[in-house]
Amino acid sequence: MDQPLFRVGIIGAGSVVEDYHLPVLNALSQARVMWLCDLNRQRAARLAAAYRIKSVYQQLEQCSEVDVALLAIPLGCRRPVWERLFARGWHVLCEKPFAANVAEHDWIMEAGTAARIQIGAGFMRRTYRGVALARRLVAQSLLGRLRGVWASEGGRLRATGRGSDWYQASRSSAGGGVLMESGCHLIDQVFSICGAQDFTIEHSAIVYHEELDYEARATGTLIPAGQPPCKLAVAVSRLNDYPNQVVLQFDHAQLRIGTAPDAPAQLCTGDGQTVAQLAAAGGAEPATGRAYRAFSAHWCEFFRQCTSGIAALAGAASSRLTTAFIESCYRLNPPPA
Ligand SMILES: NC(=O)c1ccc[n+]([C@@H]2O[C@H](COP(=O)([O-])OP(=O)(O)OC[C@H]3O[C@@H](n4cnc5c(N)ncnc54)[C@H](O)[C@@H]3O)[C@@H](O)[C@H]2O)c1
Repeated sequence: MDQPLFRVGIIGAGSVVEDYHLPVLNALSQARVMWLCDLNRQRAARLAAAYRIKSVYQQLEQCSEVDVALLAIPLGCRRPVWERLFARGWHVLCEKPFAANVAEHDWIMEAGTAARIQIGAGFMRRTYRGVALARRLVAQSLLGRLRGVWASEGGRLRATGRGSDWYQASRSSAGGGVLMESGCHLIDQVFSICGAQDFTIEHSAIVYHEELDYEARATGTLIPAGQPPCKLAVAVSRLNDYPNQVVLQFDHAQLRIGTAPDAPAQLCTGDGQTVAQLAAAGGAEPATGRAYRAFSAHWCEFFRQCTSGIAALAGAASSRLTTAFIESCYRLNPPPA
């Protein structure tokens, strides 16, 4: 059966679009990129020429009709764009971080429902091979009861090579520092693996430099789907090198999942000695591999959502708890006045 063809418009012609979305959409037979829209017309025009995209716009009002819009601009610039998108009635796949807080998350989802559009969030780690496998093992309690989850990611950031006008240099543009920008991926990865229903934070600490957080740590409790509460510890940093991994502790075993697209799931003894690398049987796992394949799988998920009207892996509603976790950490440890 022929797949429906989705006309896609891209808002934001920045790094994530150039490095991932355009190569991926260009290779997907069910997508046709119709235009790029960016305040920086030159940037959009250069990318459009490279991918033979006919139209370039600076304002959303000028853009031609599409089926799906990719919203790939920094968090702090999105609100007026969302309002225009609801009015246009296009489905929207929005890059991470999805929302600054739960109120904003709910506003987007409710307005999207009223506009009868599908909304996806760009948490493409959900399609990683190791994440998909771990999700199945936890959901089926194959390793027994989950006792704890330790997730960390970080490396010492020496220089960004970016100017002071980069969105990540401003809290109002990025929505936060390392916790919002990178931490949202890690937290969503944990919550996706565990089918998280809720969490509590018992201790948390954030290291700020001026308005931006450079390290965040939190410990508390996680309620996984269908299992009793377990311990949770999360750390993200631009100051210190941390293992880039999620460790799931069961009674007699650990499962370790890396944060990179290719990272295998490692089955370990209860005290962390690696026993085996796991691969899903029967080719049932999503075909990921390198990062662009994860973006590709994520786009396919979102196109399925647009066709079926049923939000699944790419759906934004299921990332609400990720938004809530980050908001709670910032509330408990606000930036210096
Ligand atoms: N999924 C991932 O792994 C991943 C990777 C990188 C970035 N991102 C996310 O993607 C978003 C963009 O990141 P980036 O690195 O591409 O940023 P970038 O700074 O390289 O590009 C952002 C672009 O948005 C444009 N822009 C800003 N406001 C606009 C508006 N109102 N209308 C049209 N264009 C506007 C800017 O002119 C700029 O060209 C961020 O939210 C970031 O967190 C996700």
